[in-house]
Formats: sequence, structure tokens, C-alpha cells
Amino acid sequence: MTLRKPILAGNWKMHNGPAEAERFFGEFLSAFSSREDRSVVFFPPAVSLAAARSAVQGRADIRLGVQNVFWEEKGAFTGEISCGMAVEAGAAVALVGHSERRQVFGETSEETARKVRAALAAGLAPMLCVGETLEEREAGRAAEVVEEQLRAVFEALDEADAERVVIAYEPVWAIGTGRTASPADAEQMHGSIRRLLAGWYGAEVAGRMAILYGGSVKPDNAEALLAAGDVDGVLVGGASLDPAGFARICGASS
Ligand code: PGA
Repeated sequence: MTLRKPILAGNWKMHNGPAEAERFFGEFLSAFSSREDRSVVFFPPAVSLAAARSAVQGRADIRLGVQNVFWEEKGAFTGEISCGMAVEAGAAVALVGHSERRQVFGETSEETARKVRAALAAGLAPMLCVGETLEEREAGRAAEVVEEQLRAVFEALDEADAERVVIAYEPVWAIGTGRTASPADAEQMHGSIRRLLAGWYGAEVAGRMAILYGGSVKPDNAEALLAAGDVDGVLVGGASLDPAGFARICGASS
């Protein structure tokens, strides 16, 4: 029995403009049964945040987030969004260090760490993504890579800040590939992440922190993943674009 409330998160990536976001919520909300013991978060593209916000207005069971932030508050940073702006637009959570940010856009662990600190300072809950590539897993380096990514962020955070970070373990080889980590693989990595956190912050703090799994989560595998030890929720990409399917994932028992 865990005290951690499972989090079901949908990362839309570069899908669903404002009109599609509105249509999505129309369908999702009619299929979704809210549960008090669950929390649901959507990461629409920033331009669709306003549409998403009006669609879920007044609901405490659905939170919104942004897919990326910049660490400066304002200035000449064409194309970037500050954490304060994200909060003003209705975001409560910020995805940070997603593997697409790291791999496609060359974001370093140091930059990821700065973004996490800026998000915390602005009152956003950072959802920090970590995960190894296939090459790293095959070389037996998965745990080491994940530890390095975590250390880069947590070495500068005290207990109170660390506790506000949600971790998403997303093995790169499982993202968008249809290849999911087995519940046993997920449990093993989540267990080692929690042991690391316990080493840094003590077992009590580590026990309160949420560690989500992400990578090809679908309606038919969500339940088994959510049931795995130390898996406190799921971060869903492709399957979060289907309103009925994502509503099923949100209702999957754990
Ligand atoms: P996927 O993406 O569910 O499409 O594999 C997950 C993610 O990138 O967060």
C-alpha cells in the first residue's frame, strides 16, 4: 500500500493545436471517470494551453503543464517561454529533460538542472525525465546513465525542493517504438532510483516522491505497469492523443 497517489500524465508533444485540443477535451471528459485517488496531468503544446485551460476550468482533478521551459524570467530569448509565463497561462507542472529535448535539441544535463531549479522557483512542479538509450542498456550502463542524469539535477537541491520533483523514467528505446519495458524491468529501475533518492534525502522523503514510467504505455499495458512496485504513475505520449484510450489508461487499476 503506497501513500503516493498515482499520476497519469499525457504528453501531447507537437500534436493538437487549440481547435484540436478543444475537441480532444470534449471527447475525453465524456469518457473519463474522475478518481480521487488519482491525479491527471496534460502537457499540450504551449499554444494550446489556453484552450485546454478553458476546457478543464474549475476541475481540481486535472492539471496542466508545459512541455519545456527556459530558466530566465524574461528577455531577448526568441522562441522561449519562462516559468512565470507558464504559470500565468495555467500550467502547474513543467516537463523537463524529456529525451527529445536532450537528443533532438541537444539539451545537456546541466541545462536540465537549471530548468528544474527555475521551475521550482516559479512554483511549477518539475516532471524530470531520465532514461538510457538502447546502446547504453545493451552495454549494461542503464543504471549508471540514469544515476548521472539524476545526480546532475539533485546535487543542487535540498530536501524540500527535491520532494517537489516528479521523476519520469523513460527508457529512450521504449519511446514511440511500441517496445515497452516489462513491468519487472520498470520495477527494477524504479527501485534503484528510489534507493538513490533515499541515499541522498533519507527513506522518508524518497518514499513520498513519485516515480512515473514512460515509453509506449497503452491502454492494454498500463495496468500491469501501474501494478509494478515503485511505479507511481505513467507518462504517456502517443496513446494520450486518443481521448477514449487515454481515459481508459486513467481508469486502469493499480
Ligand atoms: P510514447 O512517448 O508513449 O509515445 O512512447 C512517451 C513520452 O515520450 O513521454
